[in-house]
Amino acid sequence: MKKSYYITTPIYYVTDAPHIGHLYTTVAADILAGYHRLIGEEVWFLTGTDEHGQKCEKKARETGETPQALADRVVERYKIAWHRYGIRYSDFIRTTEERHKKVVTHYIEKLMKTGDIYLAEYEGLYCVPCETYWTETQAEGGKCADCGRPVEKLKEESYFFKMSAYEKKLLEHLEKHPNFIYPESRRNEVLGFIRQGLKDISISRTTIQWGIPMPQDPGGKKANKEHKVYVWFDALTNYLSALGPLENNPKVAQYWPNAIHLVGKDILRFHAVYWPTFLMALGLPLPKQIVAHGWLTDSNRKISKSLGNAIDPMALAEEVGVDGMRYFLFREFVFGLDGEYTKEVMIQRINSDLANDYGNCISRVCSMILKYCGDAPVAIEKILSEPCEPRDAVGEAIPVFHNEMQSYGFQKALEAVWKMIASVNRYIDSQAPWALAKSSDPADKEKLKKVLFQCHEALRVASVFLLPIIPTSARKALKTLGASESHSGDAPLLQKSGWGQGPKEIKVEKPEPLFPRLENKA
Ligand code: MSP
Repeated sequence: MKKSYYITTPIYYVTDAPHIGHLYTTVAADILAGYHRLIGEEVWFLTGTDEHGQKCEKKARETGETPQALADRVVERYKIAWHRYGIRYSDFIRTTEERHKKVVTHYIEKLMKTGDIYLAEYEGLYCVPCETYWTETQAEGGKCADCGRPVEKLKEESYFFKMSAYEKKLLEHLEKHPNFIYPESRRNEVLGFIRQGLKDISISRTTIQWGIPMPQDPGGKKANKEHKVYVWFDALTNYLSALGPLENNPKVAQYWPNAIHLVGKDILRFHAVYWPTFLMALGLPLPKQIVAHGWLTDSNRKISKSLGNAIDPMALAEEVGVDGMRYFLFREFVFGLDGEYTKEVMIQRINSDLANDYGNCISRVCSMILKYCGDAPVAIEKILSEPCEPRDAVGEAIPVFHNEMQSYGFQKALEAVWKMIASVNRYIDSQAPWALAKSSDPADKEKLKKVLFQCHEALRVASVFLLPIIPTSARKALKTLGASESHSGDAPLLQKSGWGQGPKEIKVEKPEPLFPRLENKA
């Protein structure tokens, strides 16, 4: 049976159009989904939008729309951007959809019955933009521990979730599953937080209108209509509600145990503490892993709409190309860490790696094949049975690539691919095909053919590996190399990416520039 893989992105607030930070998480998920598909797994890839709560309500007031109209309008911006970037999600969930609201209500009702959700009075320091309560110690100097903005004293009647009851169980889970939170530095942060003691948390709000109403309290003590479900409990549930009903649902059985939540470091605690304890209370299994990545920064500040330094992915797609962006984001930055975004570095990276190294190399090799060997198909099986430098480079890169892709080391995985490409460039220089072509010795003619097709093979393998990362360009490259079939069929990343596993006969096409050189117009 095929292995199953379930990858999720956070669901994005519809307060604004997507920016480069949202693109980063979504492309990461798409690369992982693509990789796992290409190694033959069955993949479910979920993304969507977080549409309730105070932030959306406030934004709609500002724009003079209803919150629903705001959500309907902004969700299109996300869908258009993801389409532009070739994001192949399996499902897109919106928290205002009936299928989602039903599940949230059902879970809360269930926990009200078990007593895990109860009514009490709450007084605390609240950060409106983050929709989070903080303790006195957390909100040092009256500032939100996350965003640094001032907190307000707020007192309200609220429903609470008995998170404290699951502290021990959560710690045990983390100890038993050391990879549950990745990377390790983030796991340690979460462990530190849990060890300070988990308190019950407020999971309803009376200060907002725009949310899922709390269901009727079975004790009948209170009319709950004025209570809305706290947006984080609403939002987190999307990962399950999108799979459909829990009982007798093959999709849940297949994918839920393999769920991987990809999140930015700012929302790790919600995913690594709130969500698992909520699931424990419901008696449901936990996801397999929560992976936290760093931020893209601008002068060391998080890039975000509210800080006014957001960068529009649609403009970037026009300017540097979709695959240029996809490559840059995952070659330049270490996935778990923050990365400083600058346009100069981006343009430099795309020009040097994609236009010069990869693009030029393909064009050089294909042009020489056409020039020196003609355009009839060439049988390459025998040629590829011999040792050579590019073959060694491919052999070395393959295990590194897979290991890194499976442990979120995108940067190192790409470095491994570029080592193959570099070996081809070196090999061309050392073997000087142009000199061999001038020779009248028939042995040199044979050698010329051999050298060119050995280079060709390393480029074919490199392109197969690049399919999940820069899908459009890698496919185009394979077509030029006359090896399109190498990316179709079952698990091409396993079955077609070894030396000599491509087509037995090659007919290359006249190369066209894969990546135009970019100019820094600024
Ligand atoms: N709606 C919540 C998530 C609920 S998931 C159940 C939310 N939305 S968000 O739109 O504010 O952010 C979504 C994701 O984008 C987060 O993972 C966040 O880390 C990521 N990014 C936002 N800005 C970012 C950068 N500058 N860099 C990298 N990712 C960042 O939080």
